[in-house]
Amino acid sequence: MTAPVADRPPYGRLIEDDRVHGSLYTDERVFADELERIWYRTWVYVGHESEIPEPGDYVVKSIGPQSIIMSRDRQGVVHLLLNRCSHRANQICESARGNTGALRCQYHGWTFGTDGSLLGYPFRQGYGPDTPKSGLGLGRVTRSDSYRGFVFGSFAAEGPTLLEHLGAAREALDRVARLSPVGRVELTAGWLQHEVRANWKMLVENETDGYHPQFVHSSIFEVGESHVAEVYSEKSAATARDLGDGHTEHDLRPQFRRHDVPLGWFGTTEDRLPDYCRSMRAAYGDGTAREILVDGSPHIMIFPNLFIAEIQLFSIQPLAVDRTVQHVTPLQFAEAPDLNRRLLHQVSGSVGPAGFLLADDSEMYERNQRGVAALRPEWLVLRRGLNRERIDDDGHLAGAATDETTQRGIWRHIRTLLTEEESA
Ligand code: FES
Ligand SMILES: [Fe+2]
Repeated sequence: MTAPVADRPPYGRLIEDDRVHGSLYTDERVFADELERIWYRTWVYVGHESEIPEPGDYVVKSIGPQSIIMSRDRQGVVHLLLNRCSHRANQICESARGNTGALRCQYHGWTFGTDGSLLGYPFRQGYGPDTPKSGLGLGRVTRSDSYRGFVFGSFAAEGPTLLEHLGAAREALDRVARLSPVGRVELTAGWLQHEVRANWKMLVENETDGYHPQFVHSSIFEVGESHVAEVYSEKSAATARDLGDGHTEHDLRPQFRRHDVPLGWFGTTEDRLPDYCRSMRAAYGDGTAREILVDGSPHIMIFPNLFIAEIQLFSIQPLAVDRTVQHVTPLQFAEAPDLNRRLLHQVSGSVGPAGFLLADDSEMYERNQRGVAALRPEWLVLRRGLNRERIDDDGHLAGAATDETTQRGIWRHIRTLLTEEESA
């Protein structure tokens, strides 16, 4: 399965510190290497435990092109199973979600428990006594683990633990959770899917790109009454940060603290969400609740596919070198019904079918993909902010709001993963 090293594109030369080669977005061989060395090796975000609250619940998710069933068995344990019958490989789950005592394959009727074990097959005499059921369960993702209900899977038997993988990005998941008075995220609003004709890395790079919003999103800034446009300007106090291991964030807190308005990050004020603010103060105390409400929700890209953008959560799914799906849902929080309602409305305005935000980004992804197919000038330039990068108090590389510190961080990690020795 692994291509001899000599046949691999020379990643060390195609990914430089301040520019990357266009073929990295268009070459099928690169995509194959990425599946093997990134998507089928590192930890990938799959789903959230709140999507399957009851025993027998399941949802169909993905790791790259692999269809994954995330299920909760009768004992309440979460499993990541491959959506492929162990008989002759029919796809088991067609519906996106459900609750069941057993998953039944439509082709010849084999049935499986929600823990993936084979329960039975029709006309058993045909198998005789020497066909054990035990080795014929559904395939499973080699390792799975969760943090604050966010479930990740990895096809590598060994390697960093989930917490090691999350590293400095873990704190952002804490920051999301504490927006709930009881500290719990609930992804219960349903999902939209947007498919784009573009390479997945264009999306990942764009998620923490603070340079484009003034141009690409000017229409939404004009109709909105928030301070968002300032966040993405040269005067912004926001920070583009490389958190290491491919994780990047656009830390908007310095800018929101400058304004010091609770819920300013959400474009609203406390009097519009009185119940929520009351519950937050009761849960955390006045001082901490105020801090949380001023700082708001993070803007973080957890490599390779989990993007939390203040009010919504995206999961990025590459299907081919030039085809990517963005699955998106509004963030929802336990014990915060009035906040949740408002989140839902805002998210339909940003990424819904007639939304202002994602459509603009998607247009850019597709134009980018068409542009990068042109033969010259071969390279993409990632130099912005090199002259003013610094190491912050936590030891991370940090740049100004509109700098390409984040893109350079993403590519450094991709280069490491694509050039690692086989034994690593
Ligand atoms: S392929 Fe599933 S039962 Fe035959
Ligand atoms: Fe954007």
